[in-house]
Amino acid sequence: MNASATFPLNKISKPLLSWFRARARSLPWRDDPRPYFVWVSEIMLQQTRVAAVMPYFSRFISALPDVAALAAVDDDALMKLWEGLGYYSRARNLKKAAQRIMEKHGGTVPRDFDALLALPGVGRYTAGAVASIAYGERVPAVDGNVLRVVARLTASRDDILKDSTKRAVENALAEIMPKDAGQFNQAMMDGLALPRPRRRN
Ligand code: ADE
Repeated sequence: MNASATFPLNKISKPLLSWFRARARSLPWRDDPRPYFVWVSEIMLQQTRVAAVMPYFSRFISALPDVAALAAVDDDALMKLWEGLGYYSRARNLKKAAQRIMEKHGGTVPRDFDALLALPGVGRYTAGAVASIAYGERVPAVDGNVLRVVARLTASRDDILKDSTKRAVENALAEIMPKDAGQFNQAMMDGLALPRPRRRN
């Protein structure tokens, strides 16, 4: 990707962080970004919009408040909690991953990108989202929103469906990633901007 030649991508983090701190919406997994919450929310959000996920997330977390509870849930109860969200392999992989986390990581969702990536149902985007939002790791999280934003900023003609384009965007963002990586990534991916407050004179 010919990113920096066309647009200084390193200029985007400041205004995005300002926007995020001032205007980003409150979300349960954002207000309390414990790793388990961030992971579950990111899996639910993979094929589903934020508004649709909200009631499912609350119910899921009430029933299964931590990795241990998820690892031990019986399959019928799990499917009942997931019913309506669709893409049920996400739920099966969540449970499998929870069991893996109990066995290999002492019940703590891993912090390391590659350890996250090794979990069932976790791809590069989700691993980056969990590592950065829950742990502040300076890694990118490139989903479709982020690909589109970067392609537009850099006037890129690369096919954003190609894996090589996605990797190039990851690399470009890794170079400019600010310290508040979780906030930066969420500012890049968030599909909703709240309206500016009305100015009073
Ligand atoms: N879509 C997926 N994850 C998200 C997040 N953490 N914030 C906003 N939109 C998202």
